[in-house]
Amino acid sequence: MKTKIFQASEIKTAAELIREGELISFPTETVYGLGADATNEQAVQKVYRAKGRPSDNPLIVHVATKAEVADYVTEIPTVAEILMEYFWPGPLTLIFKVKEGAFAHTVTAGLDSVAIRMPDNSVTLSLIKEAQTPLVGPSANTSGKPSPTTAKHVYHDLQGKIAGIVDGGATGVGLESTVLDITTPEKPTILRPGGISRAELEEVIGYVAVDQHLVSSDEVPKAPGMKYKHYSPDEPVIIVAGNQNLWQEAVRHYQALGQQIGILANDEMVAAFSNQVAETYSLGEKGNIHSAAHKIFAGLRYFEQTEATLILAEAYPEEGLGAAYMNRLKKAAGNQFYRSSEKL
Ligand code: TXA
Ligand code: MG
Repeated sequence: MKTKIFQASEIKTAAELIREGELISFPTETVYGLGADATNEQAVQKVYRAKGRPSDNPLIVHVATKAEVADYVTEIPTVAEILMEYFWPGPLTLIFKVKEGAFAHTVTAGLDSVAIRMPDNSVTLSLIKEAQTPLVGPSANTSGKPSPTTAKHVYHDLQGKIAGIVDGGATGVGLESTVLDITTPEKPTILRPGGISRAELEEVIGYVAVDQHLVSSDEVPKAPGMKYKHYSPDEPVIIVAGNQNLWQEAVRHYQALGQQIGILANDEMVAAFSNQVAETYSLGEKGNIHSAAHKIFAGLRYFEQTEATLILAEAYPEEGLGAAYMNRLKKAAGNQFYRSSEKL
């Protein structure tokens, strides 16, 4: 199969392919999604196959309007109404109790709940409207790899396996949506940190819980996708949380072990080490978490095309968008931090 690149002006053709049960990748404000008709069982099964995704990991359904959600779920709690009003379209996915038969069976992977979101991307909203059906949209990467933030990333992973990609340029946020479970409306719970922070949610609806496994690692996660190895490039990733002295120590340590180091960090750190290490990729201005979130997946993918054998990546404070950034980075690194060998 030849994978076609569609421009925004060619949405009608892309929508037709979706109606025929083909897979079309679409841009969103977070990452690129792998789109298929959420009511077509064959098409949804193709999505799992193209990604190599485990069949017990349910998909997010992307809608073009708030109003249509009522057709798909058994109940819209007041808290969900408020959240949709404030944050949709936007990077917030809500888990509802699903109406029997609303979607193809495999969308929900056997659960009695469904994840729904309205993406903030006008081209993709028209694509959904033209297709006249809600679309499943897992991130359009090969399962386990960093999520795609450009059409080129999608092409790299899925060329020959999908009918097309709608090219909407680089995505904005760069990290996936926040997944919030509101099936227990009295205790809304974050299952995956993402583009909307806990503080932003709490400003609107008060106390928001965080799924325990995100706090302690021995619990089974409620969002099935969170238990898999994810976001990982070919090279091992080690997180560095500290000042330039610690970075210097880490660089020397791994070079002594014969590693070709790739550094993924802010401008200043990159400038400080660029003539000492094999490769660098800048996350942008020091301390700017929005820039770091926007660039992390592209950065992790960058090193795959270089000689680097090990990536040292910069830690950010786990607050606001930093919680989502660190969630992804820890998964990419299998939770490995560089520990100083020097006495405290
Ligand atoms: O920003 C995003 O959300 C992107 C863009 C393309 O919209 N999509 C995305 O989809 O990240 P995916 O499939 O990579 O991640 C979906 C997450 C997984 O962790 C999955 O386990 C969880 O949502 N999920 C889906 N349905 C669920 C359900 N019914 N209950 C709990 N978790 C669910
Ligand atoms: Mg994903």
